Amino acid sequence: MSKIIVITGGTSGIGLACAKYLVNNNYQVIITGRNEMNLKLAIEELGVNAFGYKSDASSLKEIDHLVNQIKENHGIIDGLFVNAGIFKSFSFEDTNEALFDETMNINFKGAFFTVQKFIPILRNPSSVVLNTSIAVFKTFVNTSVYTASKAALESVSKVLNIELAPKGIRVNVISPGVTETPIQKKSGMTDEAIDGLLQHFSKTSPIGRIVQPTDIAPILEFLVSDRSLVLRNEKIVIDGGSTLF
Ligand SMILES: NC(=O)c1ccc[n+]([C@@H]2O[C@H](COP(=O)([O-])OP(=O)(O)OC[C@H]3O[C@@H](n4cnc5c(N)ncnc54)[C@H](OP(=O)(O)O)[C@@H]3O)[C@@H](O)[C@H]2O)c1
Repeated sequence: MSKIIVITGGTSGIGLACAKYLVNNNYQVIITGRNEMNLKLAIEELGVNAFGYKSDASSLKEIDHLVNQIKENHGIIDGLFVNAGIFKSFSFEDTNEALFDETMNINFKGAFFTVQKFIPILRNPSSVVLNTSIAVFKTFVNTSVYTASKAALESVSKVLNIELAPKGIRVNVISPGVTETPIQKKSGMTDEAIDGLLQHFSKTSPIGRIVQPTDIAPILEFLVSDRSLVLRNEKIVIDGGSTLF
């Protein structure tokens, strides 16, 4: 029987590429997003083995509702990719309380409670994958609260691996490098700044190009498959070697 994997924020970028890869490899995929139209377009693109639910990852009430809907319509799931996230580019001095709360509420608080609320419908064994960032260990200016949100999320992984082990739930982390997705345009960076960033990483990376969402998908598939059953709190850095410098 095909495995069922939930991907939060599966309507765009990394989440959508992973959903496509999983569907093409005989998984059933459930994606979430906040925008009805984006969800509809993604589901049309993914085909009959994909299902979409509108759900804001920063709302605990909506996460509860999402889990109830999935339980009712699909039963138990085999994997959860905690991927929904935002990035807004602001200097530390310009980071106000609203941006702090928005970023932490989606990238950390929402991710934290997503894992917690999915526990009752995660199979034994099952796989949770957290999407963090190379920003956790490499310094990027104008990312202070984003970096903090991803560092906080990553730090929880080791604790969950001990607490959730009796339920057969394993937790691992993917840490993408700069990956070409719509997130850059949404960040508030100018087109010139985005071009500069992508050019820099294309030129300096050992792979000679920028990481694409399709590079991440097979690695996510490995982590939700039975081939990674013994991995616990592993972090796979997916950056084409750009942080070796
Ligand atoms: N691209 C990179 O360079 C990079 C590097 C390292 C890590 N990451 C991480 O990878 C993840 C995916 O990013 P991406 O680059 O693929 O960006 P993206 O193309 O902007 O995709 C983000 C996805 O998350 C969803 N989302 C955002 N806020 C949400 C919320 N509150 N509730 C539910 N869904 C929400 C978006 O859908 P809606 O807006 O329609 O809700 C969209 O589907 C993020 O966690 C990001 O931090 C990205």
